Amino acid sequence: MARRKKIYEGKAKILYEGPEPGTIVQYFKDDATAFNAQKKDVIDGKGALNNLLSEYFMSGLNQIGVPTHFIKRLNMREQLVRQVEIIPLEVIVRNYAAGTMSKRLGIEEGTQLPRPIVEYCYKDDSLGDPLVTEEHIAAFGWATQQDMDDILSLALRVNDFMSGVMYGVGIKLVDFKIEIGRVYDGDFQRLIVADEISPDSCRLWDIETGRHLDKDVFRRDLGSLTDAYTEVAMRLGVMPKTSTPVTKPTLIN
Ligand code: CDP
Repeated sequence: MARRKKIYEGKAKILYEGPEPGTIVQYFKDDATAFNAQKKDVIDGKGALNNLLSEYFMSGLNQIGVPTHFIKRLNMREQLVRQVEIIPLEVIVRNYAAGTMSKRLGIEEGTQLPRPIVEYCYKDDSLGDPLVTEEHIAAFGWATQQDMDDILSLALRVNDFMSGVMYGVGIKLVDFKIEIGRVYDGDFQRLIVADEISPDSCRLWDIETGRHLDKDVFRRDLGSLTDAYTEVAMRLGVMPKTSTPVTKPTLIN
């Protein structure tokens, strides 16, 4: 059997060359990292859950006309996606104060913001993904003004979609991060949502109890991360309520 060509290995995913030009296979690992990889663990079942959840969110976005890189899920660990040129920014949308914003501005976690706030961080692990402004982005040529208009519009549409989907299952979307990729269609280029959307990259709080159902469970040692992600998947109907737990090796390809 021919070996696939690995294109890139990150903290939570591996990218392999896809079957057609312009496609990539995205493999979800069980590795969890936090605080710029200073805290690490391997969490059985996390990769499979994020694969299912990212498929659910990305295919929903595709359906409502928000373009994403997602093509199809291949198995419990992998999905086929479009190859993109990643814009070197982490685009963060916040509805409630939490995490670094609460620390930076001294706002109590959970405070509702007057409107969604979009922040940009420069994607560079060695610098700890520093917060940057549109001035930096334009001056250093990471994205044009037109790109920034498109990125803002994509980010707010993803926010509305994700907030609504989560609200429907009793979960508050506190904040999330997305990455944006550039694709070329003939003479045209456009921007699409890339990477993943999962509880690794969102803050999700139960509306009733405030229970954390996201990576803060790992960051802050709040219990079982797979239990939290499984709860999100079950509420969304992504995993049948009676199915074998996703952590059982039988389900993992
Ligand atoms: O998560 P942390 O407190 O380090 O940073 P934040 O700026 O408060 O994160 C805002 C949101 O973006 C959270 O939902 C994070 O999970 C997500 N994020 C991410 O997925 N990847 C990063 N490198 C930074 C933030």
